[in-house]
Amino acid sequence: MLEKIKATASFIKERINDEPEIGIILGTGLGGLVNEIEIIESIPYSEIPGFPVSTVDGHAGRLIYGALGDKKVLAMQGRFHYYEGYSMKEVTFPVRVLKFTGITHLFVSNASGGLNPTWQVGEIVLITDHINFFPEHPLRGKNEKELGPRFPDMSKCYDERLRNKAKLIALQNNIVVKEGVYVGVSGPTFETPAEYKMFRLLGADVVGMSTVPEVIVARHMNLKVFGISIVTDSGVPGEIVEISHQEVQEVAMKAEPKMTLIMKELIKSI
Ligand code: HPA
Repeated sequence: MLEKIKATASFIKERINDEPEIGIILGTGLGGLVNEIEIIESIPYSEIPGFPVSTVDGHAGRLIYGALGDKKVLAMQGRFHYYEGYSMKEVTFPVRVLKFTGITHLFVSNASGGLNPTWQVGEIVLITDHINFFPEHPLRGKNEKELGPRFPDMSKCYDERLRNKAKLIALQNNIVVKEGVYVGVSGPTFETPAEYKMFRLLGADVVGMSTVPEVIVARHMNLKVFGISIVTDSGVPGEIVEISHQEVQEVAMKAEPKMTLIMKELIKSI
């Protein structure tokens, strides 16, 4: 695996001929950040050796290299979800590769169902911690020492300094943000009311189908992580209504300018 990661990272480094500082996974609700990047190079996933190809509507697959303020960023437009059928090694492969191109920070976004009864649909949540509820662990199997330790610490997954900066940026721009725990599940079904209730009882504020595997792997390699989520639907008893992927996308689109601003300013401030 190590050889494959290094080969793919070399391919990317040769294409961009530079060293990126920050990796971004542009999940639902953050597509607009692409427009803020001065694009230097754009590589379709299909051209990247070793990369899986994404299959879901609304997740175009390409790697974008460019400048955001004075920072060099490598952004994944489209991610790989476990529910698409990829193994956890495939889901997290791009994060490994990004690390080997030289990044020190990983910024991730996602859409989620809201579990905290005091929050609304449309809420922006800074992720403070996560619960891994996926049926497969991305680090299961032989550990590569060069990537990270056998038993990685997960006590501080989401960097507090980055989160505090994000809170300040939100405050300065009159954007309301919450902080909370994200539980990552396999999907592709949205939760039943009983499942939403269970995840609330387990201590989560939002539930979604991504992010956790990527963050585990990022932390394994000691990358600093910032995660942000947009609550696109409610899993709170009495508020649950039928939802679809399209509705999730629509709500996320509305919050996009705010998420984009926070992310852009935060990256510039590092
Ligand atoms: N559950 C799981 N994943 C999601 C949801 C949800 O309610 N909304 C957006 N992604």
